[in-house]
Amino acid sequence: MSGPLLVVDDLSVAYGACPMRVRALDAARLTVEPGETVALIGESGSGKTTLALAVIGLLDPAARVEGGRILIEGRDALGLSPRERAALRGRIVGMALQSARGALNPSRSVGAHFVDALEGTPRARVAEIAEATLARLGVDEPRARLASLPHELSVGLARRVGLALATARRPRLLIVDEPTSGLDAESARATLALLRAALAETGGACLVLTHDLALAERFADRVAVMCAGQIVETAPARAFFARPRHPYAAALLASAPARARALDDLSPIGGGAPDLCRADLPACRFAERCARRDAACAAPPWTSDEQGSATRCAHPL
Ligand SMILES: Nc1ncnc2c1ncn2[C@@H]1O[C@H](COP(=O)(O)OP(=O)(O)OP(=O)(O)O)[C@@H](O)[C@H]1O
Ligand code: SF4
Ligand SMILES: [Mg+2]
Repeated sequence: MSGPLLVVDDLSVAYGACPMRVRALDAARLTVEPGETVALIGESGSGKTTLALAVIGLLDPAARVEGGRILIEGRDALGLSPRERAALRGRIVGMALQSARGALNPSRSVGAHFVDALEGTPRARVAEIAEATLARLGVDEPRARLASLPHELSVGLARRVGLALATARRPRLLIVDEPTSGLDAESARATLALLRAALAETGGACLVLTHDLALAERFADRVAVMCAGQIVETAPARAFFARPRHPYAAALLASAPARARALDDLSPIGGGAPDLCRADLPACRFAERCARRDAACAAPPWTSDEQGSATRCAHPL
């Protein structure tokens, strides 16, 4: 295949109806190339999980796609039937959900989850693949684990099982939602090693959704920044951390000393994100907190620079 693995093109998604319509994504744009690792970073509630669930085709029934396209290997995913969509899941795109244990069915064993994830594969082969995948992700006694129920797994083990399930079919794009959230530094490091092992397993691309700037800096080839439902900057990780171009991205980095802390621990930047139910949301969701705002910000253009950074801003830094 040539061309990007994933293109999210001006995707808008809302939950619920007026007056409580939450505009979770507003013309979000993102591209993932084969084999690359992209970190989608943003404060809590900025729309990271909504974007990922739209890509994998598992949006909440309360969500409505209001515009835009999702191309997976060039195919218009939003135009596919539910059956065609399901066929892409696991094989082309796999996802480890934000809540590791909550993502597992409490009444089904780990082995039964693998049978579902590898639907159509002979049982004996399922057991082989499951054991090998769990072992590569550092799970002790993987055969015995196949009989475990989700409540018998520690949070760390549930996370490994979630990753193993997401990678069982060696998807070309692995999406991982908040892999280090709530972990101490040592567990976060171990989880990163796991992720690397999972990627070595798939040989594919990865989209990691995270509050954690340190994770993004260490792990990603490229970074995309979300601000209240809008993607405002995408850039090679090195260029981004050396010189963010969007004022919101710069404020995020400036408020994270030594990038040691996750974004949800930070004090909100100058007053917090706007309420996504508001009918009068500004064209740039950072406008009410931005010192550079002027009339041109009513229609912020995308511009790019020689470092490969692209920014949606009337006055990039
Ligand atoms: N099922 C839902 N029904 C209504 N609103 C929702 C639903 N899921 C998410 N939202 C809202 O959509 C917005 C984006 O949420 P989302 O979970 O995508 O953000 P996030 O960046 O993943 O946040 P976090 O970092 O906390 O996981 C938020 O305002 C959230 O409250
Ligand atoms: S578009 Fe305008 S308000 Fe928004 S970040 Fe850029 S300068 Fe600030
Ligand atoms: Mg989330």
